Amino acid sequence: MHTLVDRFGRRIEYLRLSVTDRCDLRCAYCIPEGFKGFEEPEHWLDFDEIERLMRLFAGLGLKRLRLTGGEPLLRRDIVGLSRRLAAIPGIEDLSISTNATQLAEMATDLKAAGVTRLNVSLDSLRAEGVERINGRPVLDKILAGLEAGRAAGFNPIKVNMVAMRENADEIDDIVAYCMDKGFVLRLIEVMPMGDTARKMGYVDLQPVKAQLKQRFGLVDTVMPGGGPARYLGTPDGRFSVGFITPISQHFCETCNRVRLTVDGVLHLCLGQEERMDFRALMRAGASDADLVDAIRRAIDLKPERHEFTEAPQKLVRFMNMTGG
Ligand code: GTP
Ligand code: 5AD
Ligand code: SF4
Repeated sequence: MHTLVDRFGRRIEYLRLSVTDRCDLRCAYCIPEGFKGFEEPEHWLDFDEIERLMRLFAGLGLKRLRLTGGEPLLRRDIVGLSRRLAAIPGIEDLSISTNATQLAEMATDLKAAGVTRLNVSLDSLRAEGVERINGRPVLDKILAGLEAGRAAGFNPIKVNMVAMRENADEIDDIVAYCMDKGFVLRLIEVMPMGDTARKMGYVDLQPVKAQLKQRFGLVDTVMPGGGPARYLGTPDGRFSVGFITPISQHFCETCNRVRLTVDGVLHLCLGQEERMDFRALMRAGASDADLVDAIRRAIDLKPERHEFTEAPQKLVRFMNMTGG
C-alpha cells in the first residue's frame, strides 16, 4: 500500500540516494576547487544500513531509487550495493546519475547488477570546455563511458548538460551528438547551490526551448522517469530533449522525491533545510517500527516549494552533498 503522501497531496515514490560526497571532478556549478568540507567516512551509512532503510521505504510505497553523489561510481563496491538494492521487493527502477569517468570499466557489471537507467553529465564536447567547466581534462573518458553504457544495453541513456554562459554556444553541437548516438538530452538551468554556482552565468532555457522546437519541428512528449524534466521530441520519436528549469519555471507542485545524503540525513527538498537524521536514529538503536514512524514524520515536513529565485542566499549546501 502506498502511504507516503505529503501535506500537499504529493505521492513520494522516488528517493535520490547519495552514496558518496567525493568526486574526481570539480564542476564549476558544484564543488569548488580546494573544497575541504567532505563528510568523515565513519559517518557514511554502510551497505547494511542503506539496505535496511531502503527496504522500509519500499514497504511504504517507494518505487524508484537513484544513486547519486558526488560521483557514485567512486563508492567502493557500488556494483555490490546496486545488486542489493535492485533485489528489494517494490523497487521497480534503480538508476544512476554519473559523470561517466569510470563508466567504461563498470557499465557491464552495473547492468548485470540490475541497474535499469543511466544519466550522464556532459557539459561540452570540446576538450578545453570540459577542462574549464568540469575542472579536469576528461572528455575522452566521458565519451568512452557513454559508448560503454550504450554497448552494455542501457536504454535510454540521458545526457545532462547544465546550460551556462560558458557553453551556451555548444547546445546545437550537443543536440547533434545526442541525435546521432540515440541519447536523450536534458538541458538544465544552473541552480544557486554554494558560492560558485551563484556566480555562473545563468541561461534562461525558455527561449532556447522555443528555438529548438522551431528548428527541429519538435512536439511535446513524455519520457519514463518521473523527474522534473519537460520533454520535446521529433515526431518519429527518435530524439527527445528535456528541459529542467527550476529557475524560470518551477515544478515543485509535482515533486515526488526526497534525498538521502551519504551520512544518512533525509532532505525533504533540494532547496530547503527540512531534514531528518536517520543515521543518528539507526545508530542509537531505533527499531524498524521507530524508523517507519520517523519516515512518516519526515514526509510531513516536506515543504511546498523551493525559493531559489526569492532567496538564493538561503542555500548553503553544495550540490555534492545533496546529490542533485
Ligand atoms: P529521471 O528519473 O531520469 O527523470 O532523472 P532526474 O532528471 O530526476 O535526475 P538527474 O540526476 O539526471 O538530475 C538532473 C537534474 O535535475 C539535476 O540538475 C538535478 O539537480 C535536477 N533535479 C532532480 N530532482 C530535482 C528536484 O526535485 N528539484 C530541483 N530543483 N532539481 C532537481
Ligand atoms: N545546478 C544544476 N544542476 C546541477 N548539477 C550539479 N550541480 C548543479 C547545479 N548547481 C547536475 C549535474 C548532474 C546532476 C546530477 O546534477 O550536472 O548532471
Ligand atoms: Fe562531481 Fe557531479 Fe559535482 Fe561535477 S556535478 S563535481 S561530476 S558531483
